[in-house]
Amino acid sequence: MNAPSTAQGTGQDTEHQGLVENRIFAPPAPFAAQAAVSGMEAYQALCAEAERDYEGFWARLARENIEWQMPFTRTLNEDNAPFYKWFEDGKLNASYNCLDRNLKNGNADKTAIIFEADDGTVTNVTYKALHEKVCKFANGLKSLGIKKGDRVVIYMSMSVEGVAAMQACARIGATHSVVFGGFSAKSLQERIIDAGAVAVITNDEQVRGGKQLPLKAIVDEALAMGGCDTIRNVVVYKRTGGAINFKEGRDIWLSDLVDQQSAECEPEWVEAEHPLFILYTSGSTGTPKGVQHSTGGYLLWAALTMKWTFDIKPDDVYWCTADIGWVTGHTYITYGPTAVGATQLIFEGIPTYPHAGRFWENVAKHKVTIFYTAPTAIRSLIKASDGDEKVHPKNFDISSLRLLGTVGEPINPEAWMWYYRNVGREQCPIVDTFWQTETGGHMITPLPGATPMVPGSCTLPLPGIMAAIVDEAGHDVPNGQGGILVVKRPWPSMIRTIWNNPERFKAGYFPEEFGGRYYLAGDGAIRNKDTSYFTITGRIDDVLNVSGHRMGTMEIESALVANPLVAEAAVVGKPDDTTGESICAFVVLKQARPTGEEAKKLATELRNWVGKEIGPIAKPKEIRFGDNLPKTRSGKIMRRLLRVLAKGEAITQDVSTLENPAILEQLKESA
Ligand code: WT7
Repeated sequence: MNAPSTAQGTGQDTEHQGLVENRIFAPPAPFAAQAAVSGMEAYQALCAEAERDYEGFWARLARENIEWQMPFTRTLNEDNAPFYKWFEDGKLNASYNCLDRNLKNGNADKTAIIFEADDGTVTNVTYKALHEKVCKFANGLKSLGIKKGDRVVIYMSMSVEGVAAMQACARIGATHSVVFGGFSAKSLQERIIDAGAVAVITNDEQVRGGKQLPLKAIVDEALAMGGCDTIRNVVVYKRTGGAINFKEGRDIWLSDLVDQQSAECEPEWVEAEHPLFILYTSGSTGTPKGVQHSTGGYLLWAALTMKWTFDIKPDDVYWCTADIGWVTGHTYITYGPTAVGATQLIFEGIPTYPHAGRFWENVAKHKVTIFYTAPTAIRSLIKASDGDEKVHPKNFDISSLRLLGTVGEPINPEAWMWYYRNVGREQCPIVDTFWQTETGGHMITPLPGATPMVPGSCTLPLPGIMAAIVDEAGHDVPNGQGGILVVKRPWPSMIRTIWNNPERFKAGYFPEEFGGRYYLAGDGAIRNKDTSYFTITGRIDDVLNVSGHRMGTMEIESALVANPLVAEAAVVGKPDDTTGESICAFVVLKQARPTGEEAKKLATELRNWVGKEIGPIAKPKEIRFGDNLPKTRSGKIMRRLLRVLAKGEAITQDVSTLENPAILEQLKESA
């Protein structure tokens, strides 16, 4: 590995989608001096240790970072690859590691969670109080007959109770499956059925941006759709006190469930491979897949990356703005920060309420030191502060910040620079963390006290992560040449399988073309000629990334064609300044192609339909109606052409193989 010069502005070139990025920023010296991994030599020493003795490396870290009730003797079992097993004969409990361990380590009275509600109300929860809350919750779940191996769906807003619900499941060995509160009743129903869940934990309502939005009503709707016969109970956390329906015998208030419970709950010691959670994500086919994670390897990764990537220290106030409905909220809110005894801010609201300076106001109010957010949020706050000086970060005392992070999508160099200058005051390293639901935690990211940063590049893999770029045949490509991102060796926090679908796991992530041994991330990437730095160039499958939310084009297409008016639909991504990508749908109706006002009306109707089928995040920004879609003579939809049309660019490709070239004209305009 060729570490770049650490001097600023030494002009290493990074090809970034045609642009040349030649700025390089050394980690600020005061930061590097105190960092857990300080300097490139320290990083390289860890990489070398992993190269030398791969299993020994992970075994050492697993012993140092996790408390095992039963120590493991076998580190990695590859007998049934790609169904890898890590630390398989070890036993542990995730909630014990995140809570009890802190009580023993002198953190009992330390604040675990600072909860900032949408309206600005603050609640502090110590480790001792969180432990008590989780134990009571766990005992309550047990009283409903929920036991090790059962699946529990959590459909809640950002709250202490949401984190406690997850930890309570972990405590009794139940596997949780959190469904993001923005998903529709139908999406929720599909996930409940696939997981075979025995209970749903939800709120009466959630509060976001001053509005009360239903949750329990959506659960009712999902369960009324049928097929959810495995569900015995719905536990309801009262957040707003808004009116809800209650089904006797099935529904129970959280307070009624936990109030009489004991504040002690012996953890269920589970095998390292026991599924801690399932989290549904989108793939290239119509149905979402339940990514299954382990307990031991996953928790190791959550704790370790808090130290490596976030350089977490006892006095930090850490804030990750993700929702617990996404993997970032799992690893970097519920499990990671608690596993290392950190104090974290959990925010219920949205970045733009009551004004677009809310993030910076929160940072100032709680003296946040580590701030982790999505590029899409940064871009929208840049726009907001361009339009309104008052919400610019310079108007808030954010001098407590010492480290910044981004996640979920590529960050464009301009947004990176703005973040670096205006939020980090050129004193905070930025960790651009590349990872996925499937990887469990960070994979490729700068280490803040070691890696010189290049805007727009996630730089280098973490120690022990054997990331590489290969061609279609699975051969390594040289630096400077784009290709397919793979990971050549298993790592502790990797996806274990797709719930109920091991075949899809194997075929999708460990394809035979690459010998069945390389993990295929689904992203394209390129490495810099001189620095070997990685830049992610985007998905190579039919997956879109809208505001850091992952969505399958097929999923949206299936939702559209489920509408009785629709004959055919094709969905593509279109580059968007704020959201990264936006959804553009090409639709053929069973009736004649609508125009003018009628087209607008039908587009709104279809948009709302998709909102109902999947959730508001999946609503196409644009809908274009045609008499047909551009197809080859064999009937294949030419998505490449649709992407060009969506961008509004001139078609330069040869369209002579098109069955119906005249259709292209119709598809240039959105309704
Ligand atoms: C996809 C995974 C990572 C947790 C939240 C999203 C894209 C993620 C980066 C980054 C460029 C990124 C990839 C990846 N992605 N982080 N730092 N730079 N692209 O998890 O929903 O599973 O999405 O997000 O395309 O495959 P996810």
